[in-house]
Amino acid sequence: MSAEAAVTTSMRDYLREHPSLKFFFFGGKGGVGKTALAGATALWLAGQGRRTLLASTNPVHSLSGLLGQDVSGGHTNITGVPNFWAYEIDTRETIERSKKDIRDKIQWFLKFADISTKADDFVESATMNPAFEESAMFENMVDMMLKNEYDTYVFDTAPTANARRLLGMSKVYSLWVDKMLKSREEARTLREMLSFTKKKEDDPLLQYLLQFRTRMGQARLLLTDAQQTAFFFVTLPEALPIAVITRFIGWFHDFGIPVGGVIVNMLLDRQALGKDVPEFVLNRMQMQDEHMKTVWEKFDGQVRAILPLFDQEVRGVPMLRQAADALFR
Ligand SMILES: Nc1ncnc2c1ncn2[C@@H]1O[C@H](COP(=O)(O)OP(=O)(O)O)[C@@H](O)[C@H]1O
Ligand SMILES: [Mg+2]
Repeated sequence: MSAEAAVTTSMRDYLREHPSLKFFFFGGKGGVGKTALAGATALWLAGQGRRTLLASTNPVHSLSGLLGQDVSGGHTNITGVPNFWAYEIDTRETIERSKKDIRDKIQWFLKFADISTKADDFVESATMNPAFEESAMFENMVDMMLKNEYDTYVFDTAPTANARRLLGMSKVYSLWVDKMLKSREEARTLREMLSFTKKKEDDPLLQYLLQFRTRMGQARLLLTDAQQTAFFFVTLPEALPIAVITRFIGWFHDFGIPVGGVIVNMLLDRQALGKDVPEFVLNRMQMQDEHMKTVWEKFDGQVRAILPLFDQEVRGVPMLRQAADALFR
């Protein structure tokens, strides 16, 4: 069986079957080509006349390197490519802003509850953990999705485990906020009962939580809508990356998040290699063949594209175009 023969629904087919697809995500083990394929997809979508934003929510930035253009300052139009914008979110800035936000709210709360403690201790414990960074990035992504300024969004996601936690978090957020709201309501009622003035308290924390829950609910609706959202999983014809996306796809099914399919990257191209192939390369081809069998066993019907290993990195618009051609052939 030739590799190509088994792609039953290609990337192009999938997009044709999902014409209102708007949010594209790429997941997989580090180094498999997520950033490169996210870039290629965004370029292709822009070429279809759709206003497209390629955004990185990954703390390790790489979009500027990918595009050969600084895109860290804000939504940046890619030179010479109509409809194509890219944005690398500044993690540090986001985190500082969230910290300040949290500090303000905690300060307000301490005053409200007549607790004479410095907010700093609370702020430290609330923000000094990796989950805080992730949740700040997640909120950033949600902001972009809800703003709805583009026809399509392509997100270069954080590495596998983080991305799953980010999405799992939207459910947890909701539960957490419900609990918080309940106790805030109780606290407010108590305070109102104890106070002589009957005027209703304006409670910014409560307002924030309500708004937050609404936003998270909206985001979850978008993220679980298979007509609008698709996660594509990138793998190499190698054991570990295959194991990673297998686990990932399982999780996503559990979360009800739509899986768009699997993309196999960096397959050695037999034809391009010609006749005198060194043994080293032959061995690698054989290894890849073996792993391709696993790919077909596990993901038959879900493989959307197989990309060759190019003779250079995928960097700059011309190389992205070449990758896009292979992805949407
Ligand atoms: N098909 C390919 N052929 C050759 N190089 C590739 C291919 N796909 C990706 N690369 C290169 O592999 C490296 C890792 O890709 P990258 O997109 O950064 O992976 P990830 O985002 O998953 O960590 C980059 O240098 C990229 O240019
Ligand atoms: Mg990357």
